Amino acid sequence: MRTHYCGELNAKHINEEVVLCGWAHRRRDHGGVIFIDLRDRFGLAQIVIDPDTKDAFKIAESVRNEFVLKVKCKVRARPAGTVNKNLPTGEVEMLASELEILNPSLTPPFMLDDDSITESIRLENRFMDLRRDEMQSNIILRYEISKNIRNYLDKEKFIEIETPILNKSTPEGARDYLVPSRVHHGEFFALPQSPQLFKQLLMVSGFDRYYQIARCFRDEDLRADRQPEFTQIDMETSFLDESQIMDISENMIRAMFKAVKDIDLPENFPRITYEEAINRFGSDKPDMRVNLELVDLTDEMKTVDFKVFASAANQTNGKVAALKIPGGANLSRSEIDTYTEFVKIYGAKGLAYIKINDITQLNESGLQSPIVKNIHEVALKQIIEKTSAENGDLVFFGADKRKIVHEALGALREKIGHEKNFLIKDMWTPLWVVDFPMFEMDEEEKRWNALHHPFTAPNDGHEEFLDKNPEKCLSKAYDMVINGWEVGGGSIRIHKQDIQAKVLKALNISDAEAEEKFGFLLKALQFGAPPHGGIAFGLDRLTTLLAGAESIRDVIAFPKTQKAQCLLTEAPSSVDEKQLRELHIKVRPKNVS
Ligand code: AMO
Ligand code: AMP
Repeated sequence: MRTHYCGELNAKHINEEVVLCGWAHRRRDHGGVIFIDLRDRFGLAQIVIDPDTKDAFKIAESVRNEFVLKVKCKVRARPAGTVNKNLPTGEVEMLASELEILNPSLTPPFMLDDDSITESIRLENRFMDLRRDEMQSNIILRYEISKNIRNYLDKEKFIEIETPILNKSTPEGARDYLVPSRVHHGEFFALPQSPQLFKQLLMVSGFDRYYQIARCFRDEDLRADRQPEFTQIDMETSFLDESQIMDISENMIRAMFKAVKDIDLPENFPRITYEEAINRFGSDKPDMRVNLELVDLTDEMKTVDFKVFASAANQTNGKVAALKIPGGANLSRSEIDTYTEFVKIYGAKGLAYIKINDITQLNESGLQSPIVKNIHEVALKQIIEKTSAENGDLVFFGADKRKIVHEALGALREKIGHEKNFLIKDMWTPLWVVDFPMFEMDEEEKRWNALHHPFTAPNDGHEEFLDKNPEKCLSKAYDMVINGWEVGGGSIRIHKQDIQAKVLKALNISDAEAEEKFGFLLKALQFGAPPHGGIAFGLDRLTTLLAGAESIRDVIAFPKTQKAQCLLTEAPSSVDEKQLRELHIKVRPKNVS
Protein backbone atom coordinates (compact mmCIF):
# COMPACT_ATOMS: atom_id res chain seq x y z
CA MET A 1 0.00 0.00 0.00
CA ARG A 2 2.84 2.42 0.83
CA THR A 3 6.48 2.78 -0.15
CA HIS A 4 7.83 4.80 2.77
CA TYR A 5 7.01 5.94 6.30
CA CYS A 6 6.18 9.63 6.70
CA GLY A 7 8.90 10.25 9.25
CA GLU A 8 11.77 8.78 7.24
CA LEU A 9 11.76 11.16 4.27
CA ASN A 10 14.59 13.64 3.83
CA ALA A 11 16.69 15.41 1.22
CA LYS A 12 18.03 12.08 -0.04
CA HIS A 13 14.57 11.24 -1.35
CA ILE A 14 14.20 14.39 -3.49
CA ASN A 15 12.57 13.63 -6.85
CA GLU A 16 11.41 10.18 -5.75
CA GLU A 17 7.80 9.14 -6.22
CA VAL A 18 6.49 7.83 -2.90
CA VAL A 19 3.22 6.52 -1.51
CA LEU A 20 2.48 7.39 2.12
CA CYS A 21 -0.28 6.35 4.52
CA GLY A 22 -1.20 7.99 7.77
CA TRP A 23 -3.43 10.37 9.68
CA ALA A 24 -4.17 13.99 8.82
CA HIS A 25 -2.49 15.69 11.76
CA ARG A 26 -3.32 19.18 10.59
CA ARG A 27 -4.72 20.74 7.43
CA ARG A 28 -4.01 24.29 6.38
CA ASP A 29 -5.49 26.25 3.48
CA HIS A 30 -2.93 28.72 2.12
CA GLY A 31 -4.56 30.82 -0.52
CA GLY A 32 -5.36 28.09 -2.97
CA VAL A 33 -2.74 25.56 -1.86
CA ILE A 34 -3.66 23.00 0.78
CA PHE A 35 -1.05 21.64 3.21
CA ILE A 36 -1.64 18.45 5.15
CA ASP A 37 0.76 17.23 7.81
CA LEU A 38 0.50 13.50 7.44
CA ARG A 39 1.43 11.53 10.55
CA ASP A 40 2.50 7.97 11.14
CA ARG A 41 4.47 6.25 13.93
CA PHE A 42 7.71 7.59 12.53
CA GLY A 43 6.83 11.26 12.22
CA LEU A 44 5.20 13.97 10.12
CA ALA A 45 5.44 14.65 6.40
CA GLN A 46 4.18 17.86 4.83
CA ILE A 47 1.94 17.11 1.85
CA VAL A 48 1.28 19.92 -0.62
CA ILE A 49 -1.89 19.71 -2.71
CA ASP A 50 -1.91 22.10 -5.62
CA PRO A 51 -5.25 23.24 -7.14
CA ASP A 52 -3.93 22.06 -10.52
CA THR A 53 -4.23 18.43 -9.37
CA LYS A 54 -7.97 18.81 -9.41
CA ASP A 55 -9.13 15.42 -8.07
CA ALA A 56 -6.66 15.40 -5.20
CA PHE A 57 -7.44 19.02 -4.37
CA LYS A 58 -11.19 18.33 -4.21
CA ILE A 59 -10.62 15.47 -1.83
CA ALA A 60 -8.15 17.52 0.23
CA GLU A 61 -10.82 20.17 0.78
CA SER A 62 -12.94 17.62 2.62
CA VAL A 63 -10.09 16.22 4.75
CA ARG A 64 -10.40 16.92 8.48
CA ASN A 65 -8.13 16.14 11.43
CA GLU A 66 -7.45 12.44 11.99
CA PHE A 67 -8.80 11.24 8.64
CA VAL A 68 -6.81 8.25 7.41
CA LEU A 69 -5.21 9.02 4.05
CA LYS A 70 -3.18 7.45 1.31
CA VAL A 71 -1.13 9.85 -0.81
CA LYS A 72 0.91 9.36 -3.91
CA CYS A 73 3.42 12.16 -4.16
CA LYS A 74 6.80 13.39 -5.29
CA VAL A 75 9.42 14.48 -2.79
CA ARG A 76 10.83 17.96 -3.39
CA ALA A 77 12.99 20.44 -1.51
CA ARG A 78 11.05 22.98 0.50
CA PRO A 79 11.31 26.51 -0.95
CA ALA A 80 13.98 28.67 0.69
CA GLY A 81 12.71 30.17 3.94
CA THR A 82 10.20 27.41 4.62
CA VAL A 83 12.68 24.78 5.81
CA ASN A 84 11.72 23.55 9.31
CA LYS A 85 14.89 22.65 11.20
CA ASN A 86 12.85 21.21 14.10
CA LEU A 87 11.39 18.42 12.00
CA PRO A 88 13.51 15.50 10.74
CA THR A 89 11.51 15.77 7.49
CA GLY A 90 11.69 19.58 7.56
CA GLU A 91 13.89 19.99 4.48
CA VAL A 92 11.41 18.38 2.13
CA GLU A 93 7.74 18.42 1.22
CA MET A 94 5.66 16.06 -0.89
CA LEU A 95 3.72 17.28 -3.89
CA ALA A 96 0.60 15.11 -4.09
CA SER A 97 -0.57 13.61 -7.36
CA GLU A 98 -3.24 11.32 -5.92
CA LEU A 99 -5.06 11.44 -2.63
CA GLU A 100 -7.42 8.86 -1.21
CA ILE A 101 -9.41 8.96 2.04
CA LEU A 102 -9.10 5.44 3.47
CA ASN A 103 -11.36 6.32 6.38
CA PRO A 104 -12.83 9.55 7.70
CA SER A 105 -12.90 10.38 11.41
CA LEU A 106 -15.45 12.00 13.66
CA THR A 107 -14.28 15.26 15.19
CA PRO A 108 -11.64 14.15 17.74
CA PRO A 109 -12.59 14.60 21.42
CA PHE A 110 -9.47 16.75 21.84
CA MET A 111 -6.65 18.22 19.82
CA LEU A 112 -3.62 15.95 20.06
CA ASP A 113 -1.29 18.81 20.90
CA ASP A 114 -3.57 20.31 23.57
CA ASP A 115 -1.74 19.87 26.89
CA SER A 116 -4.66 21.06 29.00
CA ILE A 117 -6.90 18.00 28.63
CA THR A 118 -7.79 16.22 31.85
CA GLU A 119 -6.52 12.73 32.52
CA SER A 120 -10.02 11.29 32.68
CA ILE A 121 -10.84 12.53 29.16
CA ARG A 122 -7.53 11.11 27.98
CA LEU A 123 -8.25 7.75 29.60
CA GLU A 124 -11.83 7.59 28.29
CA ASN A 125 -10.42 8.07 24.79
CA ARG A 126 -7.15 6.23 25.28
CA PHE A 127 -6.97 5.09 21.63
CA MET A 128 -6.78 8.79 20.69
CA ASP A 129 -4.54 9.76 23.58
CA LEU A 130 -2.05 7.09 22.54
CA ARG A 131 -1.69 8.87 19.19
CA ARG A 132 0.00 11.76 20.95
CA ASP A 133 3.74 12.09 20.46
CA GLU A 134 4.53 11.79 24.14
CA MET A 135 2.49 8.62 24.59
CA GLN A 136 3.91 7.06 21.44
CA SER A 137 7.44 7.64 22.66
CA ASN A 138 6.63 6.37 26.18
CA ILE A 139 5.16 3.13 24.89
CA ILE A 140 8.03 2.65 22.45
CA LEU A 141 10.52 3.35 25.25
CA ARG A 142 8.81 0.71 27.38
CA TYR A 143 9.27 -1.79 24.58
CA GLU A 144 12.93 -0.80 24.15
CA ILE A 145 13.53 -1.33 27.87
CA SER A 146 12.03 -4.81 27.98
CA LYS A 147 13.77 -5.78 24.74
CA ASN A 148 17.10 -4.64 26.14
CA ILE A 149 16.55 -6.45 29.43
CA ARG A 150 15.57 -9.63 27.60
CA ASN A 151 18.74 -9.51 25.51
CA TYR A 152 20.88 -8.95 28.57
CA LEU A 153 19.32 -11.77 30.54
CA ASP A 154 19.53 -14.08 27.55
CA LYS A 155 23.28 -13.38 27.34
CA GLU A 156 23.56 -14.14 31.06
CA LYS A 157 21.91 -17.54 30.50
CA PHE A 158 18.56 -16.69 32.06
CA ILE A 159 15.57 -18.34 30.43
CA GLU A 160 12.05 -16.98 30.40
CA ILE A 161 9.48 -19.31 31.91
CA GLU A 162 5.80 -18.49 32.27
CA THR A 163 4.09 -19.12 35.58
CA PRO A 164 0.34 -19.39 36.19
CA ILE A 165 -2.03 -16.45 36.45
CA LEU A 166 -4.76 -18.54 38.05
CA ASN A 167 -3.12 -19.23 41.34
CA LYS A 168 -3.20 -19.88 44.97
CA SER A 169 -2.61 -16.69 46.93
CA THR A 170 1.05 -15.52 47.14
CA PRO A 171 1.66 -13.46 50.26
CA GLU A 172 3.28 -10.16 49.19
CA GLY A 173 1.32 -8.09 51.66
CA ALA A 174 -1.46 -6.72 49.48
CA ARG A 175 -5.05 -7.92 48.98
CA ASP A 176 -5.62 -10.54 46.32
CA TYR A 177 -7.74 -10.23 43.21
CA LEU A 178 -9.90 -13.33 43.31
CA VAL A 179 -11.38 -15.36 40.46
CA PRO A 180 -14.28 -17.66 41.31
CA SER A 181 -14.12 -21.24 40.13
CA ARG A 182 -17.14 -22.53 38.24
CA VAL A 183 -16.08 -26.13 38.56
CA HIS A 184 -15.26 -26.05 42.25
CA HIS A 185 -18.19 -24.67 44.19
CA GLY A 186 -17.23 -21.87 46.56
CA GLU A 187 -13.54 -21.96 45.64
CA PHE A 188 -11.40 -19.20 44.22
CA PHE A 189 -8.18 -18.64 42.37
CA ALA A 190 -6.05 -15.65 43.31
CA LEU A 191 -4.27 -13.65 40.63
CA PRO A 192 -0.52 -13.58 41.37
CA GLN A 193 0.79 -10.67 43.46
CA SER A 194 4.13 -11.90 42.08
CA PRO A 195 5.48 -15.21 40.73
CA GLN A 196 7.45 -15.58 43.99
CA LEU A 197 6.69 -19.17 44.96
CA PHE A 198 6.80 -20.52 41.43
CA LYS A 199 10.19 -19.01 40.72
CA GLN A 200 11.53 -20.62 43.88
CA LEU A 201 10.08 -23.96 42.76
CA LEU A 202 11.80 -23.51 39.39
CA MET A 203 15.11 -23.28 41.25
CA VAL A 204 14.28 -26.49 43.10
CA SER A 205 13.63 -27.97 39.63
CA GLY A 206 17.13 -27.03 38.54
CA PHE A 207 16.54 -24.27 35.97
CA ASP A 208 19.32 -22.28 37.65
CA ARG A 209 18.49 -18.88 36.11
CA TYR A 210 14.88 -17.86 35.47
CA TYR A 211 13.31 -14.64 34.40
CA GLN A 212 9.89 -13.48 33.36
CA ILE A 213 8.40 -10.19 32.32
CA ALA A 214 5.49 -10.96 34.57
CA ARG A 215 2.14 -9.33 35.11
CA CYS A 216 1.28 -8.96 38.80
CA PHE A 217 -1.96 -8.00 40.49
CA ARG A 218 -2.35 -6.27 43.83
CA ASP A 219 -5.52 -4.83 45.26
CA GLU A 220 -3.92 -2.00 47.25
CA ASP A 221 -4.27 1.75 47.67
CA LEU A 222 -3.16 3.32 44.44
CA ARG A 223 -0.74 6.20 44.00
CA ALA A 224 1.28 7.76 41.20
CA ASP A 225 3.76 4.88 41.38
CA ARG A 226 1.31 2.01 41.88
CA GLN A 227 -1.16 0.22 39.65
CA PRO A 228 -3.44 -2.72 40.54
CA GLU A 229 -2.03 -4.52 37.53
CA PHE A 230 1.65 -3.93 36.83
CA THR A 231 4.67 -5.63 35.31
CA GLN A 232 7.73 -7.04 36.99
CA ILE A 233 11.04 -8.01 35.49
CA ASP A 234 11.17 -11.05 37.72
CA MET A 235 14.42 -13.01 38.20
CA GLU A 236 15.66 -15.93 40.28
CA THR A 237 19.06 -17.65 40.44
CA SER A 238 20.66 -20.60 42.21
CA PHE A 239 24.04 -20.83 43.99
CA LEU A 240 24.67 -17.05 44.01
CA ASP A 241 24.93 -14.87 47.09
CA GLU A 242 23.24 -11.50 47.51
CA SER A 243 26.26 -9.56 46.37
CA GLN A 244 26.46 -11.52 43.11
CA ILE A 245 22.74 -11.08 42.47
CA MET A 246 23.04 -7.35 43.12
CA ASP A 247 26.00 -7.20 40.70
CA ILE A 248 24.10 -8.96 37.91
CA SER A 249 21.03 -6.81 38.30
CA GLU A 250 23.04 -3.61 38.68
CA ASN A 251 24.88 -4.41 35.45
CA MET A 252 21.58 -5.11 33.75
CA ILE A 253 20.10 -1.76 34.81
CA ARG A 254 23.32 0.12 33.96
CA ALA A 255 23.47 -1.42 30.48
CA MET A 256 19.78 -0.70 29.91
CA PHE A 257 20.07 3.00 30.92
CA LYS A 258 23.02 3.36 28.55
CA ALA A 259 21.34 1.58 25.66
CA VAL A 260 17.95 3.25 25.76
CA LYS A 261 18.83 6.78 26.91
CA ASP A 262 22.62 6.99 26.74
CA ILE A 263 22.72 7.58 30.50
CA ASP A 264 25.90 6.64 32.37
CA LEU A 265 25.00 5.37 35.81
CA PRO A 266 27.82 5.21 38.38
CA GLU A 267 30.17 2.25 38.13
CA ASN A 268 29.22 0.97 41.57
CA PHE A 269 25.89 1.75 43.15
CA PRO A 270 26.41 2.69 46.79
CA ARG A 271 25.05 0.14 49.27
CA ILE A 272 23.65 1.49 52.52
CA THR A 273 21.88 -0.31 55.32
CA TYR A 274 18.21 0.14 56.03
CA GLU A 275 19.13 1.55 59.45
CA GLU A 276 21.37 4.21 57.92
CA ALA A 277 18.83 5.11 55.24
CA ILE A 278 16.09 5.57 57.82
CA ASN A 279 18.23 7.57 60.25
CA ARG A 280 19.80 9.88 57.67
CA PHE A 281 16.95 10.30 55.21
CA GLY A 282 13.85 9.11 57.05
CA SER A 283 13.08 6.69 54.25
CA ASP A 284 14.10 3.29 52.89
CA LYS A 285 13.88 4.75 49.39
CA PRO A 286 15.68 8.05 49.76
CA ASP A 287 16.00 10.47 46.89
CA MET A 288 19.76 10.99 47.04
CA ARG A 289 19.59 14.04 44.79
CA VAL A 290 18.22 15.97 47.77
CA ASN A 291 21.08 17.21 49.90
CA LEU A 292 19.31 17.57 53.22
CA GLU A 293 19.73 15.11 56.10
CA LEU A 294 18.02 14.27 59.35
CA VAL A 295 19.98 14.59 62.58
CA ASP A 296 19.18 12.48 65.62
CA LEU A 297 18.78 14.52 68.83
CA THR A 298 17.04 11.96 71.02
CA ASP A 299 19.73 11.77 73.71
CA GLU A 300 20.22 15.53 73.78
CA MET A 301 16.50 16.26 74.33
CA LYS A 302 15.96 13.91 77.28
CA THR A 303 16.34 16.66 79.92
CA VAL A 304 14.67 19.66 78.30
CA ASP A 305 11.54 21.31 79.73
CA PHE A 306 9.68 21.20 76.41
CA LYS A 307 7.45 18.21 77.19
CA VAL A 308 6.82 17.15 73.59
CA PHE A 309 10.56 16.61 73.10
CA ALA A 310 11.39 15.18 76.50
CA SER A 311 8.59 12.64 76.49
CA ALA A 312 9.38 11.43 72.96
CA ALA A 313 13.09 11.24 73.86
CA ASN A 314 12.43 9.17 76.98
CA GLN A 315 9.86 6.81 75.56
CA THR A 316 10.80 3.39 74.12
CA ASN A 317 10.70 3.65 70.36
CA GLY A 318 10.51 7.42 70.65
CA LYS A 319 12.79 9.83 68.81
CA VAL A 320 13.58 13.50 68.38
CA ALA A 321 15.21 14.47 65.09
CA ALA A 322 16.05 17.68 63.29
CA LEU A 323 16.11 18.74 59.66
CA LYS A 324 18.23 21.80 58.94
CA ILE A 325 17.21 24.00 56.02
CA PRO A 326 20.14 26.19 54.99
CA GLY A 327 18.97 29.78 54.52
CA GLY A 328 15.56 28.72 55.84
CA ALA A 329 15.26 31.62 58.27
CA ASN A 330 13.54 33.51 55.48
CA LEU A 331 10.68 31.00 55.25
CA SER A 332 7.43 32.84 55.86
CA ARG A 333 4.98 32.05 58.62
CA SER A 334 2.51 30.69 56.07
CA GLU A 335 5.16 28.46 54.47
CA ILE A 336 5.95 27.00 57.88
CA ASP A 337 2.21 26.50 58.50
CA THR A 338 1.91 24.68 55.18
CA TYR A 339 4.79 22.36 56.08
CA THR A 340 3.22 21.79 59.52
CA GLU A 341 -0.02 20.68 57.85
CA PHE A 342 1.98 18.52 55.43
CA VAL A 343 3.75 16.50 58.16
CA LYS A 344 0.37 15.82 59.79
CA ILE A 345 -0.44 13.54 56.84
CA TYR A 346 2.24 11.26 58.28
CA GLY A 347 0.83 11.35 61.79
CA ALA A 348 3.09 14.11 63.19
CA LYS A 349 1.38 16.27 65.79
CA GLY A 350 3.31 19.42 65.00
CA LEU A 351 6.47 20.79 63.46
CA ALA A 352 8.60 22.75 65.91
CA TYR A 353 11.24 25.03 64.42
CA ILE A 354 14.07 27.40 65.33
CA LYS A 355 15.19 30.24 63.09
CA ILE A 356 18.89 30.90 63.67
CA ASN A 357 19.34 34.68 63.70
CA ASP A 358 22.42 35.08 65.86
CA ILE A 359 24.31 31.96 66.73
CA THR A 360 26.24 33.74 69.49
CA GLN A 361 23.08 34.25 71.55
CA LEU A 362 21.65 30.91 72.61
CA ASN A 363 18.35 32.33 73.83
CA GLU A 364 15.18 33.94 72.54
CA SER A 365 16.95 36.96 71.11
CA GLY A 366 19.35 34.94 68.94
CA LEU A 367 17.05 32.02 68.22
CA GLN A 368 13.57 32.82 66.97
CA SER A 369 11.19 30.05 67.99
CA PRO A 370 8.17 29.27 70.14
CA ILE A 371 10.04 26.46 71.91
CA VAL A 372 13.45 27.95 72.75
CA LYS A 373 12.38 29.21 76.17
CA ASN A 374 11.80 25.59 77.21
CA ILE A 375 15.11 24.22 75.98
CA HIS A 376 18.14 24.70 78.20
CA GLU A 377 21.34 26.24 76.87
CA VAL A 378 23.36 23.04 76.75
CA ALA A 379 20.72 21.37 74.60
CA LEU A 380 20.49 24.44 72.33
CA LYS A 381 24.24 24.32 71.89
CA GLN A 382 24.04 20.65 70.97
CA ILE A 383 21.29 21.34 68.43
CA ILE A 384 23.47 23.98 66.77
CA GLU A 385 26.55 21.78 66.83
CA LYS A 386 24.96 18.56 65.65
CA THR A 387 23.08 20.22 62.79
CA SER A 388 26.03 22.56 61.98
CA ALA A 389 23.47 25.35 61.80
CA GLU A 390 24.60 28.86 60.88
CA ASN A 391 23.02 32.28 60.96
CA GLY A 392 20.15 32.44 58.49
CA ASP A 393 19.31 28.72 58.74
CA LEU A 394 16.14 27.15 60.05
CA VAL A 395 15.93 23.86 61.93
CA PHE A 396 12.70 21.81 61.91
CA PHE A 397 12.03 19.17 64.57
CA GLY A 398 10.01 16.01 64.79
CA ALA A 399 9.32 14.33 68.13
CA ASP A 400 7.22 11.20 68.34
CA LYS A 401 7.44 7.45 67.83
CA ARG A 402 10.43 6.65 65.62
CA LYS A 403 8.27 5.57 62.70
CA ILE A 404 6.27 8.81 62.68
CA VAL A 405 9.37 11.02 63.00
CA HIS A 406 11.08 9.20 60.12
CA GLU A 407 8.08 9.24 57.83
CA ALA A 408 7.19 12.87 58.56
CA LEU A 409 10.69 14.36 58.35
CA GLY A 410 11.64 12.01 55.49
CA ALA A 411 8.70 13.27 53.43
CA LEU A 412 9.41 16.88 54.45
CA ARG A 413 13.04 16.46 53.38
CA GLU A 414 11.99 15.47 49.88
CA LYS A 415 9.26 18.09 49.63
CA ILE A 416 11.48 20.98 50.70
CA GLY A 417 14.39 19.53 48.73
CA HIS A 418 12.33 19.72 45.53
CA GLU A 419 10.42 22.92 46.27
CA LYS A 420 13.38 24.94 47.51
CA ASN A 421 15.92 23.38 45.21
CA PHE A 422 18.25 21.57 47.59
CA LEU A 423 18.66 19.28 44.68
CA ILE A 424 21.42 18.04 42.46
CA LYS A 425 19.72 18.53 39.11
CA ASP A 426 19.94 16.21 36.11
CA MET A 427 21.52 13.47 38.20
CA TRP A 428 20.76 9.81 38.47
CA THR A 429 21.39 8.58 41.99
CA PRO A 430 20.90 4.83 42.20
CA LEU A 431 21.63 3.01 45.43
CA TRP A 432 21.06 -0.30 47.14
CA VAL A 433 19.41 -0.48 50.51
CA VAL A 434 20.47 -3.67 52.33
CA ASP A 435 20.13 -5.37 55.73
CA PHE A 436 16.41 -4.84 56.05
CA PRO A 437 14.82 -6.04 59.27
CA MET A 438 13.14 -9.42 58.81
CA PHE A 439 9.99 -8.27 60.60
CA GLU A 440 7.97 -5.17 61.31
CA MET A 441 5.40 -4.82 64.06
CA ASP A 442 1.79 -4.53 62.98
CA GLU A 443 0.71 -2.07 65.68
CA GLU A 444 -3.00 -2.72 65.22
CA GLU A 445 -2.83 -6.50 65.27
CA LYS A 446 0.14 -6.56 67.66
CA ARG A 447 1.97 -9.18 65.66
CA TRP A 448 5.12 -9.39 63.54
CA ASN A 449 4.79 -9.16 59.77
CA ALA A 450 7.44 -10.01 57.21
CA LEU A 451 8.96 -6.79 55.87
CA HIS A 452 9.73 -8.39 52.51
CA HIS A 453 7.96 -11.74 52.37
CA PRO A 454 8.11 -14.81 54.62
CA PHE A 455 10.58 -16.63 52.35
CA THR A 456 13.43 -14.15 52.82
CA ALA A 457 16.54 -15.58 54.52
CA PRO A 458 17.85 -14.08 57.77
CA ASN A 459 21.37 -12.62 57.79
CA ASP A 460 24.14 -15.07 58.69
CA GLY A 461 24.10 -15.63 62.44
CA HIS A 462 20.71 -13.95 62.87
CA GLU A 463 18.65 -17.16 62.99
CA GLU A 464 19.17 -17.19 66.72
CA PHE A 465 17.04 -14.01 67.06
CA LEU A 466 14.04 -15.67 65.44
CA ASP A 467 12.69 -17.17 68.66
CA LYS A 468 13.12 -14.43 71.24
CA ASN A 469 14.25 -11.16 69.59
CA PRO A 470 12.67 -11.02 66.15
CA GLU A 471 13.17 -7.22 66.13
CA LYS A 472 16.95 -7.77 66.01
CA CYS A 473 16.83 -10.16 63.08
CA LEU A 474 18.08 -8.62 59.83
CA SER A 475 17.51 -10.19 56.44
CA LYS A 476 19.33 -10.83 53.19
CA ALA A 477 16.97 -8.51 51.37
CA TYR A 478 17.96 -5.68 49.07
CA ASP A 479 16.10 -2.90 47.27
CA MET A 480 17.35 -0.84 44.37
CA VAL A 481 16.31 2.80 44.64
CA ILE A 482 16.73 5.40 41.91
CA ASN A 483 15.96 9.08 42.53
CA GLY A 484 13.60 8.25 45.37
CA TRP A 485 11.76 5.43 43.58
CA GLU A 486 11.97 1.84 44.74
CA VAL A 487 12.55 0.27 41.34
CA GLY A 488 13.41 -3.25 42.47
CA GLY A 489 13.53 -5.53 45.45
CA GLY A 490 14.63 -9.04 46.20
CA SER A 491 16.36 -11.35 48.60
CA ILE A 492 18.17 -14.57 49.24
CA ARG A 493 15.50 -17.13 50.12
CA ILE A 494 15.31 -19.66 52.86
CA HIS A 495 16.20 -23.01 51.29
CA LYS A 496 16.06 -25.11 54.45
CA GLN A 497 12.76 -26.31 55.75
CA ASP A 498 13.67 -25.99 59.47
CA ILE A 499 14.54 -22.29 59.14
CA GLN A 500 11.45 -21.65 57.08
CA ALA A 501 9.41 -23.26 59.87
CA LYS A 502 11.05 -20.99 62.47
CA VAL A 503 10.29 -17.88 60.44
CA LEU A 504 6.68 -18.91 60.00
CA LYS A 505 6.48 -19.49 63.74
CA ALA A 506 7.86 -15.99 64.41
CA LEU A 507 5.16 -14.68 62.10
CA ASN A 508 2.59 -16.55 64.19
CA ILE A 509 1.58 -18.66 61.20
CA SER A 510 0.48 -22.04 62.51
CA ASP A 511 1.66 -25.31 60.95
CA ALA A 512 -1.84 -25.96 59.72
CA GLU A 513 -2.13 -22.50 58.12
CA ALA A 514 1.33 -22.80 56.55
CA GLU A 515 0.47 -26.23 55.19
CA GLU A 516 -2.79 -24.96 53.77
CA LYS A 517 -1.31 -21.81 52.20
CA PHE A 518 2.07 -22.91 50.87
CA GLY A 519 2.56 -26.52 51.89
CA PHE A 520 3.75 -27.21 48.32
CA LEU A 521 6.75 -24.91 48.85
CA LEU A 522 7.58 -26.38 52.26
CA LYS A 523 7.45 -29.82 50.70
CA ALA A 524 9.69 -28.83 47.79
CA LEU A 525 12.28 -27.40 50.21
CA GLN A 526 12.75 -30.94 51.54
CA PHE A 527 13.62 -32.42 48.14
CA GLY A 528 17.01 -30.90 47.48
CA ALA A 529 16.31 -27.17 47.23
CA PRO A 530 19.52 -25.35 46.21
CA PRO A 531 20.54 -22.08 47.87
CA HIS A 532 18.74 -19.49 45.76
CA GLY A 533 17.69 -15.88 45.57
CA GLY A 534 16.41 -13.28 43.16
CA ILE A 535 14.89 -9.91 42.58
CA ALA A 536 12.03 -8.22 40.77
CA PHE A 537 12.12 -4.81 39.09
CA GLY A 538 9.07 -2.69 38.39
CA LEU A 539 9.06 -2.23 34.60
CA ASP A 540 6.43 0.48 34.85
CA ARG A 541 8.49 2.45 37.37
CA LEU A 542 11.73 2.13 35.41
CA THR A 543 9.95 3.33 32.28
CA THR A 544 8.34 6.24 34.12
CA LEU A 545 11.72 7.38 35.40
CA LEU A 546 13.38 7.11 32.01
CA ALA A 547 10.48 8.78 30.25
CA GLY A 548 10.51 11.62 32.80
CA ALA A 549 6.77 11.01 33.23
CA GLU A 550 4.78 12.04 36.29
CA SER A 551 2.86 8.83 36.82
CA ILE A 552 3.19 5.19 35.85
CA ARG A 553 -0.18 5.57 34.13
CA ASP A 554 1.66 7.47 31.40
CA VAL A 555 3.79 4.48 30.44
CA ILE A 556 1.04 1.84 30.44
CA ALA A 557 -1.03 1.59 27.27
CA PHE A 558 -4.30 0.93 29.07
CA PRO A 559 -3.92 1.77 32.76
CA LYS A 560 -6.43 1.85 35.58
CA THR A 561 -7.40 5.04 37.41
CA GLN A 562 -6.61 5.82 41.05
CA LYS A 563 -9.95 4.12 41.77
CA ALA A 564 -8.80 0.93 40.02
CA GLN A 565 -11.13 1.35 37.05
CA CYS A 566 -10.58 1.34 33.31
CA LEU A 567 -12.37 4.43 31.97
CA LEU A 568 -12.13 3.19 28.38
CA THR A 569 -13.86 -0.18 28.79
CA GLU A 570 -15.64 0.76 32.01
CA ALA A 571 -14.26 -2.30 33.79
CA PRO A 572 -15.05 -3.52 36.37
CA SER A 573 -18.74 -3.89 35.59
CA SER A 574 -21.64 -6.00 36.74
CA VAL A 575 -22.28 -9.34 35.06
CA ASP A 576 -25.35 -11.37 34.15
CA GLU A 577 -27.23 -13.15 36.87
CA LYS A 578 -26.70 -16.36 34.85
CA GLN A 579 -22.93 -15.96 34.96
CA LEU A 580 -23.06 -15.38 38.69
CA ARG A 581 -25.23 -18.43 39.23
CA GLU A 582 -22.79 -20.61 37.30
CA LEU A 583 -20.08 -19.33 39.59
CA HIS A 584 -22.22 -20.03 42.66
CA ILE A 585 -22.03 -16.37 43.63
CA LYS A 586 -24.67 -14.13 45.14
CA VAL A 587 -23.86 -10.43 45.43
CA ARG A 588 -24.66 -8.92 48.82
CA PRO A 589 -26.68 -5.71 48.82
CA LYS A 590 -24.60 -2.52 49.15
CA ASN A 591 -23.66 -1.26 52.62
CA VAL A 592 -23.99 -4.69 54.20
CA SER A 593 -20.65 -6.20 54.96
P1 AMO B 1 8.15 -6.29 45.57
O1 AMO B 1 6.82 -6.41 46.22
O2 AMO B 1 9.16 -5.38 46.21
O3 AMO B 1 8.88 -7.71 45.49
O4 AMO B 1 7.95 -5.86 44.06
C1 AMO B 1 9.06 -5.70 43.20
C2 AMO B 1 8.97 -4.40 42.43
O5 AMO B 1 7.74 -4.30 41.73
C3 AMO B 1 7.33 -2.94 41.67
N1 AMO B 1 5.96 -2.82 42.22
C4 AMO B 1 4.95 -2.12 41.65
N2 AMO B 1 4.92 -1.37 40.55
C5 AMO B 1 3.74 -0.81 40.22
N3 AMO B 1 2.59 -0.95 40.92
C6 AMO B 1 2.58 -1.70 42.05
N4 AMO B 1 1.43 -1.84 42.72
C7 AMO B 1 3.81 -2.32 42.47
N5 AMO B 1 4.17 -3.12 43.51
C8 AMO B 1 5.46 -3.41 43.33
C9 AMO B 1 8.33 -2.12 42.46
C10 AMO B 1 8.98 -3.16 43.33
O6 AMO B 1 10.30 -2.81 43.65
N6 AMO B 1 8.48 -11.28 44.88
C11 AMO B 1 9.19 -10.08 45.29
C12 AMO B 1 10.50 -9.95 44.54
C13 AMO B 1 11.57 -10.87 45.01
O7 AMO B 1 11.74 -11.04 46.25
O8 AMO B 1 12.28 -11.41 44.13
C14 AMO B 1 8.33 -8.86 45.03
O9 AMO B 1 7.30 -8.92 44.41
O10 AMO B 1 9.26 -1.54 41.58
P1 AMP C 1 2.73 23.60 71.42
O1 AMP C 1 3.50 23.54 72.67
O2 AMP C 1 1.78 22.45 71.18
O3 AMP C 1 2.14 24.96 71.10
O4 AMP C 1 3.82 23.41 70.27
C1 AMP C 1 4.94 24.23 70.14
C2 AMP C 1 5.61 23.94 68.84
O5 AMP C 1 5.98 22.56 68.80
C3 AMP C 1 4.74 24.17 67.62
O6 AMP C 1 5.56 24.74 66.61
C4 AMP C 1 4.29 22.78 67.20
O7 AMP C 1 4.11 22.70 65.79
C5 AMP C 1 5.48 21.94 67.66
N1 AMP C 1 5.12 20.56 67.97
C6 AMP C 1 4.07 20.07 68.67
N2 AMP C 1 4.11 18.72 68.74
C7 AMP C 1 5.23 18.35 68.06
C8 AMP C 1 5.84 17.11 67.76
N3 AMP C 1 5.32 15.95 68.17
N4 AMP C 1 6.99 17.11 67.02
C9 AMP C 1 7.53 18.27 66.62
N5 AMP C 1 7.00 19.45 66.87
C10 AMP C 1 5.87 19.52 67.59
